[in-house]
Amino acid sequence: MSTHLPEVVVCDDAGALAEEAARRFIDAAGAATAGRGRFAVALAGGSTPAWLYRTLTRSPYCDRVDWLRTLVFFGDERCVPPDHQWSNYRMAREALLDRVSIPSGNVFRMAGELAPDDAAAAYSSTLSRVLVGATGALPVFDLVLLGMGEDGHTASLFPGLPALDERLTFVVATAVPGYVHPPVCRVTLTLPAINASRQVLFLVAGATKKAAVRAVLGREDSQGAGVGPVLPAGQVVPVGGNLAWLLDRAAAGCSAQGVQ
Ligand code: 6PG
Repeated sequence: MSTHLPEVVVCDDAGALAEEAARRFIDAAGAATAGRGRFAVALAGGSTPAWLYRTLTRSPYCDRVDWLRTLVFFGDERCVPPDHQWSNYRMAREALLDRVSIPSGNVFRMAGELAPDDAAAAYSSTLSRVLVGATGALPVFDLVLLGMGEDGHTASLFPGLPALDERLTFVVATAVPGYVHPPVCRVTLTLPAINASRQVLFLVAGATKKAAVRAVLGREDSQGAGVGPVLPAGQVVPVGGNLAWLLDRAAAGCSAQGVQ
């Protein structure tokens, strides 16, 4: 496992965070298409990633991605039909995919309308077919975008639920804890799939995330020993890839005067 500390970037606000994320998205896309002829990215649900998607549709960002060679996947999905207001696919389609020139055949959504276990199995097959090479064992994304909930969940890997401990498959179905909205089952990439990627970018904004950010990124005491349980987002450590956290000042617990 990589021993590198994550890169942490604190942006002034959610808008600046989205612009920084857009630049990194473009860089990752450029490197992947130059090196391997295509860019495989897994999108996140949630409000903070949606800022990035809207930013990517605007000039100058939209013209700097080779959408014809971009393959779009999803890190998780709510178990609802694709046109449902809770669908991550619908959010990404409305915020980004309908607004850039990406062929529909390049978009691989999770089938939230199926029974959760069937949707997970179907997506696992899709990843094997599209992303796993003849000799490979795991799908390798060039970039995985992730948000984080106030409880430290990421994708749909929630504290204390079995999906977090899955080590054998790329995709699983999961229930959600009672406090989570919307209250529907999810389909999610597992830690092995996320941690096999070349780059992971967390996008976290808002003061409500401050405690979880501190728990994940500030969990070492002065002796370097971990304190408390490792939240799901803290278990995202790409084995051979890069990890960066983009925070706004509120999530980082900073004011103009410094750390709060
Ligand atoms: C989802 C997500 C989830 C999300 C976080 C953060 O389907 O909701 O994939 O992991 O990214 O809950 O969401 P916000 O950015 O809206 O707080």
